[in-house]
Amino acid sequence: GNIIQENTTGFCNVNGTIDTNNAGYTGAGFANTNNAAGTGIDWKINFASVGTKSFTFRYAGIDTRTANLLVNGSIVAANISLPSTGSWTTWSTVTVYANTIPGISDVRLEATGASGLPNVDYVEV
Ligand code: GCU
Repeated sequence: GNIIQENTTGFCNVNGTIDTNNAGYTGAGFANTNNAAGTGIDWKINFASVGTKSFTFRYAGIDTRTANLLVNGSIVAANISLPSTGSWTTWSTVTVYANTIPGISDVRLEATGASGLPNVDYVEV
C-alpha cells in the first residue's frame, strides 16, 4: 500500500505536534495529538475506486486509546481500539476496513478518549 506520513504528500494536519523524541518511527517523525478527545490527524487521499479499503495505522502507546475513522466528515469505522504496544518506542499496527468512493478524500483519525491518540507514525492505504 501507499504509506502516508508527515514528510510525504497527503499528510495534512495533526491537532498537536510532529515529534521525534521516541525512537523507532519512520520518516521525519510521528504525530502526537494533544491529550484531549476530538483531536486527530488528517490525510488527503485520492481513492481510485468504490470499495472496501484497508487503513493500517502504525502507532505506539502505553495504554489503550480509542478513535473513530472519518472520511469526508462521516464516521466510517467507530471505536477503533489502539491497545498498548508496551512502550512509547515499541511500534505496532492496527488495520481497519472502510468503504470509500472515488476522488480526493479527507481521511481523519480522531480520538474519542481524553488522552487523545497514541503516537502515530503513518497510515498505509
Ligand atoms: C509521553 C510521550 C509522548 C506521548 C504522551 C501521551 O509524554 O513521550 O510521546 O504523546 O506521553 O500520553 O500522549
